[in-house]
Amino acid sequence: MPQTSTTRTLTPEQCDQLRELATAAAEHSYSPYSRFRVGAALLLSNGEIVTGCNVENCSYRLTSCAEQGAIARAVAEYGPGIRLTAVAVANLNSAASMPCGACRQTLTEFGDDSTLILYPGEGGTPEETTLGELLPHAFRLEFLETK
Ligand code: THU
Repeated sequence: MPQTSTTRTLTPEQCDQLRELATAAAEHSYSPYSRFRVGAALLLSNGEIVTGCNVENCSYRLTSCAEQGAIARAVAEYGPGIRLTAVAVANLNSAASMPCGACRQTLTEFGDDSTLILYPGEGGTPEETTLGELLPHAFRLEFLETK
């Protein structure tokens, strides 16, 4: 059974730390095609933080987003029961960037409506929202569970 998230509110210091770790992860981005360097940092309900960056491919559609890389790493390190308390996304291009549609679905698998999403808005202004705001009416695991 998936664990449930326990921590909902982050201190400003925790938010800053998560954004900084996402920015640091973006330094490792492999993005020779878009040159859009993205990093993500996941705060798990067990208190651990896991980061990832985007990894592109010359077969363009095989590109892995930063959030997806971080999720794969988190599951590999902490197992299938991970739950997301918060996610920070950052880029080194001074651009606004929210998780893309595919990443919203990927994050929903391990998060819930209250998972905090930290992202850069216009001009790099720190913004926040929730996963429920980004992907309302998401397709969820429980829909597959037949009675
Ligand atoms: N990208 C991410 O890593 N995360 C997102 O949520 C949006 C897009 C990456 C994919 C690609 O390598 C580059 O940004 C440009 O789309």
